[in-house]
Amino acid sequence: KRKIWLTRHGESIFNTQGLIGGDSSLSEKGWDFARALPEALLHRIPMTSEAPAVPVSVWTSTLKRTIESASHLPFPKLRWKALDEIHAGSYDGCTYAQIANTSPEEYQARQMDKLRYRYPAGESYLDVIQRLEPVIIELEREKESVCIVGHQAVLRALYGYFAAVPLQDIPTLEVPLHHLIELQPKADGTMQVERIPVH
Ligand code: G3H
Repeated sequence: KRKIWLTRHGESIFNTQGLIGGDSSLSEKGWDFARALPEALLHRIPMTSEAPAVPVSVWTSTLKRTIESASHLPFPKLRWKALDEIHAGSYDGCTYAQIANTSPEEYQARQMDKLRYRYPAGESYLDVIQRLEPVIIELEREKESVCIVGHQAVLRALYGYFAAVPLQDIPTLEVPLHHLIELQPKADGTMQVERIPVH
């Protein structure tokens, strides 16, 4: 009966400005998501009488937008540095258009190989996949249900791992804002996947 839920943080101030990275707070819309999340999640938790059949815990990154997004969830919380968003290094706080204009060769290199491209002084998707290893080990060992409130690149990597997506496809997976992705282990070892809009 154990489940794993993946959700991105609500819309952040940086999201509204098209800026990459940073550590901004939620926008008004993002806070609406944070307030709607508990009910959306509660609908998905198998209950026995009044209590969850399997205890639930919430894992966030150490960045404000995930901590704020999880702030209304009535479950124990754990912060993981390993769940922080892909680090854009020198381009942290830029827009994609700024990168394309000021460093077209970097922009192009990322387009050509988004999986292996490492931002100057930052990370690649492969780096992120590697640093998530302890999180995945803990998730697989864990018997409780876990709701991960994370970031786009990190959730692409986690979803990709659990849904056995080829590495090459991980950096372009669709992980929209304001949705829950529900993963439930099946007897054959694969995961049943459901996507639930949160509003
Ligand atoms: O801020 C970073 C984004 O969430 C990652 O998106 O890898 O598609 O540029 P991207």
